[in-house]
Amino acid sequence: MEAKIIDGKAISNRIRESIKQKVEELKNKGGPTPELDVILVGDDPASEVYVRHKERAFRQAGMNSNVIRMDADTHQDAVLEQIERLNNDKNVHGILVQLPLPPQIDPRLIINAIDPKKDVDGFHPVNAGRLMTGQDCLEPCTPKGIIRLIQETGEQIYGKYAVVIGRSNIVGKPISLMLLQNDATVTICHSKTSGLEDICRRADILVVAIGKPNFVDNRFVKDGAIVIDVGINRVNNKLIGDVNFQEVKQKAGWITPVPGGVGPMTITMLLENTLQAAMRNE
Ligand code: GUN
Repeated sequence: MEAKIIDGKAISNRIRESIKQKVEELKNKGGPTPELDVILVGDDPASEVYVRHKERAFRQAGMNSNVIRMDADTHQDAVLEQIERLNNDKNVHGILVQLPLPPQIDPRLIINAIDPKKDVDGFHPVNAGRLMTGQDCLEPCTPKGIIRLIQETGEQIYGKYAVVIGRSNIVGKPISLMLLQNDATVTICHSKTSGLEDICRRADILVVAIGKPNFVDNRFVKDGAIVIDVGINRVNNKLIGDVNFQEVKQKAGWITPVPGGVGPMTITMLLENTLQAAMRNE
């Protein structure tokens, strides 16, 4: 039987509508207008696109966003100064430094300078540590969106065997912890894993974030599995996932498309985190 499609765009639109209402309620009771400030260093074309999408989503949700553009040759200290200023600005609830950064800037130093209460990307070690120890925190947006997508299928995560391909701090590690927190049994695989296919073929939930177009085909997939494709690869000006969608949809039970799966959820979770930060730090 053919897999059911997890429509990230439709799910995302529904959540955005509910966020918009909550923002409206917050403002009506005299609360602040949630604001995200984005620091964009240099002129990476993909980053420009992401930042434009973020600006539009915030506007549509009735929230403020402000982009601070800095030249590609900006000194690290100048970025740190901006972060310090935003940390101290009561009208700013979320701070996001767009990655990647130019080579003269150390992304760890930059992320560590953000006030954890305003770290709506969930990248600061305090938030990562809180996530690992099961404490309330700002969760990274892409994994948070993935959990929502799986929940939307109506299948429970509890007791399932989940395999994650990818071990990045942004996706692989946090999604593994979140699946574990939801009572899945989790294996983390990566480019050096031996016997990858055999491990993946046992997965009830397979999350693929390896960054290689069409890497996962039917040989990696168990009948009826939930397959989440986090890949965004630009090939001949088309967006291609890490999963061979046409082939895997013949075998999986559920599958996310690219585009229109995980992608739209990331910005939606950024809206949610910024609202959460605004409500907490009022
Ligand atoms: N660049 C690509 N994706 C992201 C993201 O989620 N957060 C940040 N800060 N930069 C990115």
